[in-house]
Amino acid sequence: MAKRTIVIGTGFLGRAVVHALRRSGSRPKHTFRQHRVFPDSIRFDLLKQTLPEVVSLSGVGTLIIAAKVEHICDSAGVVAAMQSLLRFCRDMRIVYLSSDAVFDGRKGMYLESDSRNPMTLYGRNKKACEDMLMAEAGDICIVRPSYIYGYSGGQLDPRLALARKALREGTPFGRYVDMYKSPIEVNQLAQVIVWASRSSFKGVLHVGGDRISVFDFVRKALTGMGEDPTRLIPERIPSNAPPELLADTSLDCSLLAQVFNEKPVRVEDAFPGCIRSMNDS
Ligand SMILES: NC(=O)c1ccc[n+]([C@@H]2O[C@H](COP(=O)([O-])OP(=O)(O)OC[C@H]3O[C@@H](n4cnc5c(N)ncnc54)[C@H](OP(=O)(O)O)[C@@H]3O)[C@@H](O)[C@H]2O)c1
Repeated sequence: MAKRTIVIGTGFLGRAVVHALRRSGSRPKHTFRQHRVFPDSIRFDLLKQTLPEVVSLSGVGTLIIAAKVEHICDSAGVVAAMQSLLRFCRDMRIVYLSSDAVFDGRKGMYLESDSRNPMTLYGRNKKACEDMLMAEAGDICIVRPSYIYGYSGGQLDPRLALARKALREGTPFGRYVDMYKSPIEVNQLAQVIVWASRSSFKGVLHVGGDRISVFDFVRKALTGMGEDPTRLIPERIPSNAPPELLADTSLDCSLLAQVFNEKPVRVEDAFPGCIRSMNDS
């Protein structure tokens, strides 16, 4: 019998991963901490519990870690929680969600092999988890996305939802023309994560779309959604901005094309309708 997958965290991305697994015929187990999205989700706090305390791992062969804990506490606490998770899942295929925040944003178009120099607590914790998992997990794929956007479970991502709300209210909304990301549509990312969870690829994989300024990203996405972007204001990163404001964390995703033959959808083509309805099936 095929082994099952467990998805830790059913937030914006995790719930799209659960939908993608279900569409592929799997019956994944999945967890939440506070917000139950699926009626059959298991309550689990990665920072306070061990996984076998809440769910049987017999017959589970794959672990997808889509919980977001790296922004809240010190590296030691986060790494200890991941180590505790790993203790019971060492023999499983593991996919860990990291982030472009492991880079300092001075170069852009980062390759998987580029050196990491995180400028934020979140980025430092992601890097610490990457290092621990690469050293201690036998069968691991670390997926590094940039901005994740689109509709997951019928809900628009928080960044675009904020912009849409402001513009609908007639409030001017500023975004940087000189800050660059590689945004990826959430359901496409979820599909790549499912492929990664079933593949033999080991190591780090960048999963992002084309390099684009944050201003252009929001403008194109809102236009694609049929919104009026007239009040979207182009701004520049202030010269005295703190180093935490990362100027260019765009990702070179040529390895993604090589490994999975996948080309991320362009922001202007990601809306409307077709992708929004994917999760609602
Ligand atoms: N969104 C992006 O643009 C982006 C970009 C790069 C990387 N990532 C990474 O992608 C992953 C998923 O991000 P997301 O946008 O889906 O985040 P999200 O919407 O904030 O969801 C986070 C999930 O983590 C769960 N969680 C939080 N604390 C937990 C804990 N102590 N124990 C167990 N579960 C816990 C939350 O559960 P409750 O809601 O039930 O508390 C929620 O299900 C994260 O690793 C994030 O760092 C995201």
